Amino acid sequence: MILKQQYHVISVAPRPFVKWAGGKRQLLPVISENIPTKFDRYFEPFLGGGAVFFSLASKERKAKWFISDLNSDLVLSYNTIRDNVKELVTSLEKHAQHYSKDSSGYYYKVRESNPKNEIDRVSRLIFLNKTCFNGLYRVNSKGKFNVPVGRYANPNIVNEENLYQVSKILQSKDVSIKCQDFEDALKGIGQGDFVYLDPPYQPVSSTASFTSYTDSDFDFTDQERLYNKFKALDKKGVKVLLSNSKSDEIIELFHEYSDGIVEISANRFINSVSKNRTGHSELLIKNY
Ligand SMILES: C[S@@+](CC[C@H](N)C(=O)[O-])C[C@H]1O[C@@H](n2cnc3c(N)ncnc32)[C@H](O)[C@@H]1O
Repeated sequence: MILKQQYHVISVAPRPFVKWAGGKRQLLPVISENIPTKFDRYFEPFLGGGAVFFSLASKERKAKWFISDLNSDLVLSYNTIRDNVKELVTSLEKHAQHYSKDSSGYYYKVRESNPKNEIDRVSRLIFLNKTCFNGLYRVNSKGKFNVPVGRYANPNIVNEENLYQVSKILQSKDVSIKCQDFEDALKGIGQGDFVYLDPPYQPVSSTASFTSYTDSDFDFTDQERLYNKFKALDKKGVKVLLSNSKSDEIIELFHEYSDGIVEISANRFINSVSKNRTGHSELLIKNY
């Protein structure tokens, strides 16, 4: 009798390989509902962890994907995962081994290091992201990563299967990734294209500001620059969807698109913007 052994390859869809401030994984259901069913080219110029890109591109939609971000370490990470995933996994395994012996001491040693080699730079970023307090990437005004160690019993430092899935999707000839400002990313696009904009949010109050993803802040003049780009794309017939905070400045800036504003409050979404509603809310603004 021949015994047949069956091997099941467990394959999951790729998802963000870093936890990123403003990450959109929780909001994917409502964002997906607001994305057009058809487009030829997809542009996401504030990529961050890429939750929306991974969710759409892994569903085998036929499109060309143009993803970018101004954070050069982040873009280097995407490129390294695409081109050198095996070496990256080996480097992360070394971090995991050292961390298991002396988590706090090893964390601060890595935080102080400044590797020149690209693979080591990226594995440092992923290692710090998985083990730092709150898992947030935040640099100070000198561009230095300054988050203290987090308390994790068993952080998933080497998520090998996901890194290989991410590598596979980035290797597609239909995916282009660049490090650039959003305005450069949105040059030369037109009808049939779709743009998802997820910029650093306009602070809701002067004390609640978090805009340091890179060492240069995204201030209100950048929000205005973004609004002007939104408007120019709208005139060209491009479909544009934007996430931002429910702040008075953003509601005022985009008032001519008020019919296309969806307020997302916790896990529900509400079609009118009320200034009196309390609790955490944010906005989706679209021109279609
Ligand atoms: C809210 S986060 C995006 C979060 C992302 N949607 C996710 O799911 O993780 C904003 C991103 O914009 C990037 N950024 C900041 N200023 C930029 C600029 N002028 N042009 C392009 N990207 C910029 C930051 O590096 C950051 O990754």
